[in-house]
Amino acid sequence: MVVSAHDLASKAGIEILRRGGNAVDAAVATGFVLAVVYPEAGNVGGGGFMTIRDRSGNAWCIDFRETAPGAATRTMYLDSLGRPTDRSVNGHLSAGVPGTVAGLLLALERFGTMKAERVLQPAIELAERGFVVDRKLHDSLVSYSRLLEHYASTVRAFSRAGNWCAPGDTLRQPDLANTLRRIAKEGRDGFYRGETARLIVEEMHRGGGMITGADLERYEAVIRAPLAGTYRGYTILAPPPPSSGGLCLLEMLNMVERYDLAGLGFHSAKAAHLMTESMKRTYADRAEFMGDPAFVRMPVDGLISKSYAADRCSDIDAMNATPSSSIRHGEPGEHEGRNTTHFVVVDSTGEVVATTYTLNDIFGSKVAVEGAGFLLNDEMDDFSVKPGAPNLYGLIGGDANAIAGNKRPLSSMTPTILVKDGKAVAALGARGGSRIITAVLQAIVNMVDFGMNVRDAIEAPRFHHQWIPDTLYCEHGAFGASVLDDLAARGYVLGENDEKLGAIQALSINPDSGWIEGANDPREGGSADGY
Ligand code: DON
Repeated sequence: MVVSAHDLASKAGIEILRRGGNAVDAAVATGFVLAVVYPEAGNVGGGGFMTIRDRSGNAWCIDFRETAPGAATRTMYLDSLGRPTDRSVNGHLSAGVPGTVAGLLLALERFGTMKAERVLQPAIELAERGFVVDRKLHDSLVSYSRLLEHYASTVRAFSRAGNWCAPGDTLRQPDLANTLRRIAKEGRDGFYRGETARLIVEEMHRGGGMITGADLERYEAVIRAPLAGTYRGYTILAPPPPSSGGLCLLEMLNMVERYDLAGLGFHSAKAAHLMTESMKRTYADRAEFMGDPAFVRMPVDGLISKSYAADRCSDIDAMNATPSSSIRHGEPGEHEGRNTTHFVVVDSTGEVVATTYTLNDIFGSKVAVEGAGFLLNDEMDDFSVKPGAPNLYGLIGGDANAIAGNKRPLSSMTPTILVKDGKAVAALGARGGSRIITAVLQAIVNMVDFGMNVRDAIEAPRFHHQWIPDTLYCEHGAFGASVLDDLAARGYVLGENDEKLGAIQALSINPDSGWIEGANDPREGGSADGY
């Protein structure tokens, strides 16, 4: 089964599985197709994390997060008065060195069975022959028009005769097809050296960006051990830093495990209160401690220990919200050494792959590389551009996530695998910036504590708190009127609005029957395909 945000990408993954490919082969094919048919978030110009678990129980996480260009500096996005500008979000300077191509190819080489030419074929064909534009892409182009119009290469890539591609149009992307062909033929050199690298560097010169040929050559994806924790008898595998996803998810699960959520009831005021207080304390730790492990020492073991969770829970008031202003980061012990997309694959051996990758904002930096046909990310905004200044998702940070040359910005991406009695039983992840981690948390709690199937678990309305701002965001219908009143009386500032709190792709596997269920978040659409 393959679950992704676009049916053509899910179908391409299924075709690879049918032809005998394993879950990694299918995930890589799906990832490259999303770069063609879902340019809002699918990418070769961005980065992400892939969590893999094979049928013997070995697990890895491929970190293909972007890096800051070598010349990046701590204050590069501040104006002359020291105020943050929009240059970390829009335009050439917002782009980090892309990691997707290195990451997908590393996954294929180490854990796949097929050649790059084979798994890239569906993406190359769709770029060359074109695909039918859907309403979602059209609407995204129209709503971001004002920002996208600044870049002639972007307008050229996604418009016809001066209009953004309309639903029903066939979008051909010959430059992207050529880029993908170079990758298929030359491997990572087809992107990080030669023609594609030259086009990226030229684009940087045109728009005042910073990525150099040396930055591209130097880029490496990294294979890391996933973080492993437990939750009510399940083992949870999730990405380590430079994603904060695994650390935050495990810290929150450890905290909420201390409460009888099932007994309190789904979305009861008391359960929501305890989960929210766990979120707030965890996001305070995120802002203080987390960053790129190559640059900062983090108390990883401390943060995800059960005893630390007990300590963190000790000042949760049974009734009332603790104001964020009186929550600080904890003391986890000694230091040791807005458009994203997620997809999950399981093959017939039970090997599972969960991948989240992104350009960051929808259409990333909004800059397409002239002649190469793909958009560059604006992942630099995931750094803390100034201590205490909120980024695109309202997240704040300090030294641990300050900008430095060749450093990876802190992420919230959380491709997660659940294991029970030695068998993978679910895989999931989400888009949604800071909302990713709390969305994954709630989906897990919904399955484990409230016994929901995977579809109900991801469809259920969600809530989110990230410490700062001190607001409990609630989707419409997340709580009944009396629960909302109860939460307000406990001291929560409620933010109920139209915002969707992340979008999840997930699958579950029944360990006894082998029955697989896949589910796409109705907040986003896409398809779950199997055979
Ligand atoms: O790495 C991160 O945490 C962000 N760049 C993810 C952005 C995102 O999920 C946008 N999606 N809607």
